[in-house]
Amino acid sequence: MRKLAITTTAVAAVALLALSGCSSRGGDDTSGDGASKGFDKGSLIGVALPDKTSENWVLAGDLFKSAIEEAGFKADVQYAGQSTPVPDQQAQISSMTTKGAKVIIIGAKDGGQLGTQVKDAQEAGAKVIAYDRILTDTKNIDYYVAFDNFKVGQLQGQALLDGLKAKFPDKKTYNIELFSGDPGDANAPVFFKGAMDVLEPKIKDGTLKVVSGQTDIKQTATKDWLAQNAQNRMDTILQGSYGSTELDGVLSPNDTLARAILTSVKSAGKPAIVVTGQDSEAASIPLIMSGEQYMTIYKDTRKLVKQAIDMATELSKGDKATTTTTTDNGAVKVPTFYLDPIVVTKDNAAEVYKDDDKLAPLTK
Ligand code: BGC
Repeated sequence: MRKLAITTTAVAAVALLALSGCSSRGGDDTSGDGASKGFDKGSLIGVALPDKTSENWVLAGDLFKSAIEEAGFKADVQYAGQSTPVPDQQAQISSMTTKGAKVIIIGAKDGGQLGTQVKDAQEAGAKVIAYDRILTDTKNIDYYVAFDNFKVGQLQGQALLDGLKAKFPDKKTYNIELFSGDPGDANAPVFFKGAMDVLEPKIKDGTLKVVSGQTDIKQTATKDWLAQNAQNRMDTILQGSYGSTELDGVLSPNDTLARAILTSVKSAGKPAIVVTGQDSEAASIPLIMSGEQYMTIYKDTRKLVKQAIDMATELSKGDKATTTTTTDNGAVKVPTFYLDPIVVTKDNAAEVYKDDDKLAPLTK
């Protein structure tokens, strides 16, 4: 029965190609069987998301549900719970496989702990797409779609330097602190490395001083990307290293943590600092406009979700998905589609968000 359905689809696909005169896109199939059979409209597409700690994940869940259905497929969108997120995702992905999902889109809580589940998924005929966060050390991944995370880090690092120069025109050296994301999130070291690519030379030449001395990613990490954890670490650093010293700036990897850092600085009674962010969260836009948070990054979730669905639609036709580059995940080079992150400060916020119904009014 299943074989028949596949054959019918394949014949239909060939007929369609012959009619349109198109050929399918090139590139290697990383799923192992070399064949791209496609699948019917109405098939199940599973989406496993890590948590709801940042607005972008909440938005992604809503958008995925409607966009998958609009594209003609059935959607199974799941979030990991807070207490046992990794086992939750493992169980959710296995269940999507059992239900016969043709594509499983994964925003991993911990990209290194889903190897068994994605192997089973591929063996059952599903394509695996890593969404926003890559899956590490597994061959069982077909595609990756994300904003260019290294570039996000570079933009944050450069903005921190620019912000410091603008806010403190008379200073020649600046005291800063560094924060990074959750150690289980494969993006966290990439953001950090991107930022350090810009900041490290300035630390070496003495322009920047990390007064706490905490420059290793193990020291700067923020478990689970939780605001409270960043706030606690900032409180401790301020008490330990900034008794009579001025803090000028902080590298924060996202908006949630930037706001937590600002809260800590305020409640310690310290003067305003330059802080970076990412995600363009609604709660941060007024802070960008008032200058309290120096910058953020716009990674339009609508575009990222659309790209993932476009990939799934291409795969349903038996085509390869369109990609722009590859990403080494420690096991294979994963065909990747990168979107461009945009740096936002109060100077360009109105322009950048002009087509975003939720954010544009916040810039007025
Ligand atoms: C995402 C960021 C987000 C963070 C915390 C990262 O993997 O790329 O946009 O701020 O996770 O949810």
